[in-house]
Amino acid sequence: MRKKIVAGNWKMNTTLQEGVKLAEEVDNALKTVEPKCDVIVCVPFTHLASVNAVITNPQKLGLGAENCANHKSGAYTGEVSAPMVASTGAKYVILGHSERRQYYGETSETLREKVALALENGLTPIFCIGEVLEEREANKHFEVVKTQVSEGLFNLSADDFGKVILAYEPVWAIGTGKTATADQAEEIHAFIRSTIAEKYGNEVADNTSILYGGSCKPTNAAELFAKPDVDGGLIGGAALKCADFMGIVTAF
Ligand code: PGA
Repeated sequence: MRKKIVAGNWKMNTTLQEGVKLAEEVDNALKTVEPKCDVIVCVPFTHLASVNAVITNPQKLGLGAENCANHKSGAYTGEVSAPMVASTGAKYVILGHSERRQYYGETSETLREKVALALENGLTPIFCIGEVLEEREANKHFEVVKTQVSEGLFNLSADDFGKVILAYEPVWAIGTGKTATADQAEEIHAFIRSTIAEKYGNEVADNTSILYGGSCKPTNAAELFAKPDVDGGLIGGAALKCADFMGIVTAF
């Protein structure tokens, strides 16, 4: 059975001190609940080692980065490699977030390199896909996500593909307060799963966790997570307040 997952994406928010405090709060809150999902926080590079140090139960709270370089090491000033991320204790890495694709020109080719390096270093990629508003309005969203999944991931063996978590995040819903309806999410999640099944077969597709992201909040999480093909959420804004994040975690 595929895993249910709620992952926070802190983006470029919190100072180190604020981030450590937030992680402590989440870690603490998880002591008093038995979540029906895996819980992960993906934090800025600068915070990784310090946040790792305050996680008291890594079984209950996983740690991830928000990106990694497409090279292993060398003269790439300012970049952070997958081995560096792994050396902090992080186990996950968000790759291909729409903000990386849009503002930093990440292409499927670069993402294939990043995914390969993440997997080589024992990191689980949380691979993001999703259409922009014009594509949705032109009814091209199915085609767009199919291209993103196949170009970014379908070079992988079935075994390696099985290690990847997918996150469908319609760009028009990210940080806008405009959530996809549960039916819209289910429709495209089911389509993504059928695309995976065509390539790798039903068993791999059934075992792939596909998270929804985009203005997910405590008030709409339960409805989204109730859909059969929505396996959890990738949470931006609402991950920055412990109570909101926990409200989403306990929506399962
Ligand atoms: P949001 O961001 O929850 O603030 O919309 C989600 C994301 O970009 O991962």
